[in-house]
Amino acid sequence: MKDLIKVIINELRDHKTILDVGVGTGRFAKPLQEYGFRVVGVDIASRMLKRAREKSVRNLVRGGVCSLPLKGKVFDAAVCIHLLHLVSEWKMALREICRVTRKLMLSTTYTTRNPVRQSYSRLLKDCGYKTRRVGKGEWELAEVVRPSKSVSATAFSNKADELLNYLEQRAYSSQWEIPEDVNRKIVNELRGKYSGRAFPAEMRVLVWDIYDLESTVEFQ
Ligand SMILES: C[S@@+](CC[C@H](N)C(=O)[O-])C[C@H]1O[C@@H](n2cnc3c(N)ncnc32)[C@H](O)[C@@H]1O
Repeated sequence: MKDLIKVIINELRDHKTILDVGVGTGRFAKPLQEYGFRVVGVDIASRMLKRAREKSVRNLVRGGVCSLPLKGKVFDAAVCIHLLHLVSEWKMALREICRVTRKLMLSTTYTTRNPVRQSYSRLLKDCGYKTRRVGKGEWELAEVVRPSKSVSATAFSNKADELLNYLEQRAYSSQWEIPEDVNRKIVNELRGKYSGRAFPAEMRVLVWDIYDLESTVEFQ
């Protein structure tokens, strides 16, 4: 997180007012506020906002990304991290982010050589199921609208057991439609193959110009 925050701060250095949409517990809003940015955090879930408040995150507003309770073009930049994959109307969400933001939108993504996810999808397919993403992940958005910048933030080791624990709990929104027993059987099979192993991974910060997002999302 430290390395990641450093890169985010550097990318936002020429900006003052920041919207953190899908702020969650304030993982990013808190260090950005502490650094001196004027950050407003928006989230649809009051439970998340309560946890953010308990961590002394300021300027929190309850609202949905598809209908932000905010005036037009009031922020220099928007931070939108791990949100769009949860929103089926992701184009509407982007339009709203563009409506209230002047210059850029920043997000994070990671690349990994961890084969567990691919094996999971393959085994699911053999059982007649597939994962279904609700919205668009950051890496998928990068294929639709090219980011103006993609900066490597930190390299880390992606542990197979950590990922398997998440998969076992059906923690990913893409797994919500997979029956529990099918999921458990597949995860157990994967544990046999991958438990104890770790794979290289890299966290990246992606930056889009608002103009590029606006022009692409507008016409699709
Ligand atoms: C995976 S968390 C990410 C939180 C934070 N950005 C982070 O990276 O720590 C996704 C957050 O988006 C919020 N969220 C989901 N759908 C939303 C929507 N339509 N509008 C605003 N927030 C939403 C959730 O309540 C949750 O706090």
